[in-house]
Amino acid sequence: KPISIVGVPMDLGADRRGVDMGPSAIRYASLQEKLTSLGYDVEDLGNLQVPTPESYDVGQQQLKYLREVHAVSEELAQTLDRVVAAGRFPLILGGDHSIAIGTIAGVARHHRQMGLIWFDAHGDLNTAETTPSGNIHGMPLAVSLGYGHPDLVHIGGYAPKIRPENIVIIGARQLDEGERKLIREQGIRVFTMHDIDRLGMGNVMEETLQIVTDGTDGVHLSLDLDGLDPNDAPGVGTPVAGGITYRESHLALELLAEADILTSAEFVEVNPILDTGNRTAKVAVALIGSVFGEKVL
Ligand code: ARG
Ligand code: MN
Ligand code: MN
Ligand code: MN
Repeated sequence: KPISIVGVPMDLGADRRGVDMGPSAIRYASLQEKLTSLGYDVEDLGNLQVPTPESYDVGQQQLKYLREVHAVSEELAQTLDRVVAAGRFPLILGGDHSIAIGTIAGVARHHRQMGLIWFDAHGDLNTAETTPSGNIHGMPLAVSLGYGHPDLVHIGGYAPKIRPENIVIIGARQLDEGERKLIREQGIRVFTMHDIDRLGMGNVMEETLQIVTDGTDGVHLSLDLDGLDPNDAPGVGTPVAGGITYRESHLALELLAEADILTSAEFVEVNPILDTGNRTAKVAVALIGSVFGEKVL
């Protein structure tokens, strides 16, 4: 399938500036060359326009830059709606993880029973009531499930976007109390680092693939680079020790590619300012290679 790349230089959803440079960093790490060498027809739609925080008031402390995040999310949803309608595979480059609100709103319109793999150190299941930071990048999964500010929940004109039984979180190791509660109430399958250590990534992916394909009509991968261990992916704004290794993440994505079920993917939270020598963007491009079927032999 032909691929359409969309960059979203968003940093309004996170406290640490620099993640807005993520899309450039990933492109600079030879993304297009990687996909072309794998034989794909690739078009790069460039970046969406994202307002600079300096030009706007932060607004509510519990939902920082709500208006601006809302506007960009609507535009992203519309853009991806067109990409999917054109029969192309959307590959979205962040930006902070708040962009997943717009991504999921755009793609889930075409997959009303979408499976979702949330690769992340965090649950991103907060609402204005539970957030410790007020940062919207800690909320996109809750929003997609229908929990949160109505302006965010109804992006794209429908809600909710996904059902809890079609979601798998992989790599969790830092959850806030409200997030734990929502996970329990909704019965979301979470593979914590403890589970990955015990079961091994191969088994984790076997069960993950089962869950996200059972009764679904598409699968989205939302990969937060902070899901990886900070030793392998240091250029992220909210690093948490004890994460998924470079090798485990490649294995996970190779198994995902082999299953051939993915209908869209996004790579978020690459922050070149906090990085050394663009390492994290290079990891992102290597992982994207695996997602699109790259193999040693
Ligand atoms: N749970 C914390 C919060 O709500 C951290 C969220 C980090 N999210 C992320 N996409 N990196 O602020
Ligand atoms: Mn995240
Ligand atoms: Mn995270
Ligand atoms: Mn199901």
